[in-house]
Amino acid sequence: MPKVYIGNRLTQEALDVITPYAEVNMWQKENPPTREELLRNVADIEALLIWGLAKVDSALMDAAPKLKVIANMSVGYDNIDVEAASKRGIIVSNTPILADTTADFTFALILTFARRIVETANLTLRGGWKKWSPLDMPLLGWEVHHKTLGIIGLGRIGTAVAKRARGFSMKVIYYDIIRKPGEAELGVEYIPDTPTLLGMSDFVTLHVPLDSSTRHLIGAKELSLMKPTGILINASRGGVVDQKALYEALKRKQIRGAAIDVTEVEPIPPDDPLLTLDNILITPHIGGATREIRVKMSIVTAESLVAALKGEPVPNCVNYHLLGKNESS
Ligand code: DGY
Repeated sequence: MPKVYIGNRLTQEALDVITPYAEVNMWQKENPPTREELLRNVADIEALLIWGLAKVDSALMDAAPKLKVIANMSVGYDNIDVEAASKRGIIVSNTPILADTTADFTFALILTFARRIVETANLTLRGGWKKWSPLDMPLLGWEVHHKTLGIIGLGRIGTAVAKRARGFSMKVIYYDIIRKPGEAELGVEYIPDTPTLLGMSDFVTLHVPLDSSTRHLIGAKELSLMKPTGILINASRGGVVDQKALYEALKRKQIRGAAIDVTEVEPIPPDDPLLTLDNILITPHIGGATREIRVKMSIVTAESLVAALKGEPVPNCVNYHLLGKNESS
């Protein structure tokens, strides 16, 4: 049977999909394997099942000469050198099934920041709720409904965010490198450039994949174009925002704030200056972290892996075009 290395503990549902077809070696410890541990475990494998934060580069692929498939249990696959994999004939798959889950979370970030839920809940826990008065509350928030939401990247997740925004009576504008069909039904307006969108939006939310064209898409210049009352939301990838520039903009109160689920280095180092600010909300990359979707993602990942080992069309393969194959072949 072909050998599979699984770089983290996996659900039983997914293991049940894999074990009839492959011999499984699964990492069992709490913390993910180090680079060295990963390199040691891939020498004779044909399939690798991995999570979005583990780096899979050409050196790792060279250490696994029999590798046929990298099944990534994430929708984002910026952790994988897809070009290097394709050159070696290695199939790469992802899990594009968490648009609604991530969109729900994006809205949670918007509402939590704007209505100051974390600060006020913590204040209450610390015994700080001393009075109730309409104007004199310690932490008044800001409205969300009827505000303008600027979406950068109207793919699956951006679209799911736009649908939710309509329920909040927001004006939704978007920028994408490709103008999308169905704008009227979705209730979105296309803005042909990001500077204009940044200047019009009360909330700017990012939903692009991380690649060389989107790294530091939001830097000092872009932040300077946002409204002084603007709020930046990022549940995509940390590298899409220049974190140093974000720190400077927030420190100077150039924008109202930011609510981010992702950082350039994850987990965020405890001495990161962003952690010293009072106008940022940071969550630990949990946009796709519900029990239900994690089980579904694990099964989808396992199915792609098994299909590749059986030589069948691979669901959610991201590099057929680079391998010179097509999905129905
Ligand atoms: C993804 O799937 O890319 C998420 O960010 C990880 O949960």
